[in-house]
Order: sequence, then structure tokens, then C-alpha cells
Amino acid sequence: MGEIKTVEEFNRKIKRIIITKEEIDEAIKKAGKQISDSYDGHPILLVSILKGSFVFLADLCRAITVPCEVGFMCAKSYYDGTVSTGVVKITMDLSQDVSNYNVIIVEDIIDTGRTLSDVVKLLKSRSPLSLKVVTLLDKPSRRLVDLKADMSLFTIPDKFVIGYGLDCAELYRNLPYIAEYDEKEK
Ligand code: IMP
Ligand code: MG
Repeated sequence: MGEIKTVEEFNRKIKRIIITKEEIDEAIKKAGKQISDSYDGHPILLVSILKGSFVFLADLCRAITVPCEVGFMCAKSYYDGTVSTGVVKITMDLSQDVSNYNVIIVEDIIDTGRTLSDVVKLLKSRSPLSLKVVTLLDKPSRRLVDLKADMSLFTIPDKFVIGYGLDCAELYRNLPYIAEYDEKEK
């Protein structure tokens, strides 16, 4: 992957916007209401899988109108360019004891499903009151493990996407929308 040094180079790789900020806001509002309605009166822990889901978590938690806590975990899938190598490692763990909570894992994207499948196994082994998965994006055509989110805000085709927390070589997380990354454009 070539290094991006100028704003022009940065912008050239943004091929097209596939989900606008307004569409994301609208979907998050609905998801927040649904979570608030179904968990009212129960202790919620939103678990963000860093780094990709930090933007989604920040907006989702503010769309939830019942008490909830947030926690962070870092799970890394190793990528060879834009292709998953299938190696997943937990590099930072939660500080909360999940046995006291209804856990909702907040993910940016489910691609092969390997990262999430490992995180789900790990958190289940710690006996939370309940465990659900909400993902902003789902790329079902690329799934390699049997895993389905309980709530998925957008289903996308097999394209490498950036923005709204999702990166390519650590860049583009700050875009307020989801865009297709141009792998060819130099
Ligand atoms: P999985 O283990 O293959 O499901 O990959 C999950 C992780 O890979 C996500 O949480 C993202 O961090 C990253 N990822 C997968 N697809 C994309 C993409 O299209 N753009 C940016 N990151 C991605
Ligand atoms: Mg992620």
C-alpha cells in the first residue's frame, strides 16, 4: 500500500460515498430506540471492539435513552493489505466483570466473522446475563465462520470500505460517511 502524503492523494482514494452521514444517523436513531425499548430496566454494557467501532459506539450510546455503561476491547485481525490473514489477537481486555451485565458487542463491520467469533466465544465463557451483537456494517458474502449479528444496520457488497471509524492503514477513520476505497487509484 503506497504512502499517502498529500490531501490530494488522500482524497483520490475515496472512490464514492456508499452510506451518507444522514443515513447513518437515521439508522443509529432507530437502533438506539430498539435497544432502549428492549433493555429498559436491565444493566447494559456496550462493548466496543477497537479501534474501528469507536465512532459508531460514540453515536450509538448517545441514541440509547436508558442507563448503560461502555467498555473497550482491542481485537486485531491481521491483514495482508486489504485481505484478512485469519489471525486474531486480543490485545486489550475489558475492565468490567461481564457476569453482572447484558452485554452488547458493538462492531464496525463483520467481514469474514473471525474477529467477532473469537470475541463472542471469549465473552460467553465469562457468563454475561445475555450477549448480543450489533454491527454497523455486514459483508455477508465474505463470511468464513457461521456468525450472524443480532442487529445489523447496513448490508454492503464485497468492497473495501473506509470512514466512520473504518480505516485503511490507519487513515480515513475521521470521514463522517462510509466510502468505497479505491484500491487502484494512485
Ligand atoms: P473479520 O474478522 O474478517 O470479520 O474482520 C473484522 C475486522 O476487519 C473489522 O472489525 C475491521 O476492523 C476490518 N475490516 C473488514 N473489512 C473491512 C473494510 O472493508 N474496511 C475496513 N476494515 C475492514
Ligand atoms: Mg473492527
